[in-house]
Amino acid sequence: MLVLGLESSCDETAAALVEDGVRVRGDAVASQVAVHAEWGGVVPEIASRHHVTNLIPVLQTALERAGATLDDVDGIAVTRGPGLVGALLVGVQAAKAMAWARRIPLVGVNHLEGHLSAVWLDGERGPAFPHLALLVSGGHSELVIARDHGVFELLGATRDDAAGEAFDKVGKMLGLGYPAGPTVDKLAQTGDPHAFTLPRPMRGRGLDFSFSGMKTAVLTIVQQRGVPEGQALADLCASFQASVIDQLIRKTRAAIEQHRVKQLQVAGGVAANRGLRAALAELAKETGVELFIPSPARCTDNAAMIAAAGYWRLQRGERADLTLNATATLPLADGR
Ligand code: KG4
Ligand code: ZN
Repeated sequence: MLVLGLESSCDETAAALVEDGVRVRGDAVASQVAVHAEWGGVVPEIASRHHVTNLIPVLQTALERAGATLDDVDGIAVTRGPGLVGALLVGVQAAKAMAWARRIPLVGVNHLEGHLSAVWLDGERGPAFPHLALLVSGGHSELVIARDHGVFELLGATRDDAAGEAFDKVGKMLGLGYPAGPTVDKLAQTGDPHAFTLPRPMRGRGLDFSFSGMKTAVLTIVQQRGVPEGQALADLCASFQASVIDQLIRKTRAAIEQHRVKQLQVAGGVAANRGLRAALAELAKETGVELFIPSPARCTDNAAMIAAAGYWRLQRGERADLTLNATATLPLADGR
């Protein structure tokens, strides 16, 4: 079954064609990063307007790369939430128009479920069910038990900022542009993680996360000493990143122990972070769990993951009708 996925929840316009939920035939992403960088963050109306102009060319590129036409498409999967509602509406309406005109089955997909479906792409052997999943993106930080495709039980979530949001806000304070996660990651590689003492919050507080305290601690350092430069900048990035990773690893370890899982998947943009990937590999070795992380390109927003998630829903016979609409807040656990 060839599924066309469309993604427009934030600042990437993406289309992909995926065979049977696993094999990516054609994939295209138009990033608006350069447009929003000027504003220091995503401007919702500008994002929507760029989706309107980018979506059809991106779709054409994905079809060309797949060597396919709309006649070959057996189903359409589109992100229906969570995200910027004006941005989501562009993808939803395009998907509905194609589904209606070509009589192609349609499903709406939760963006977070998409992230948790990327692990089966590129012919990788994915985890079995149930397994533990750590989802760390720009908008979400959650630990869930994945019971089946699209069936999740929430164990813990952030009480304030998402992990990626904290990377971006700290990066902005340090003048590293937007989004700052990849730059902090790069600088952290040459920095000393012990150079600055930052808070290690949420000890013994269940499986919820909190990242705003360490962000405020960085702000205090910047206010007291100014933005560090050179080696000191790398040291601050490394120290901040280490405190984020420390918490993610502590909570994930606790979830592994409490729920006695044998497999762990990690998804979302922050899963591209090299320090986190190395710490997770270490955790897997210590606890004996099998670790699954998509390639860095499949950790950040793309449409192949939406097509993969949609495939399992279409397989179960799920169909969206033409009343399908976008939803800004859509919890993962309510995905079904
Ligand atoms: O999953 P994603 O592409 O979009 C959302 O659904 O939010 O995640 C984007 C987030 C941004 O906050 C970005 O700074 C962060 O992921 N990110 C990283 C890295 N690459 C992307 N954070 C830390 N290290 C990275 N290498
Ligand atoms: Zn995302």
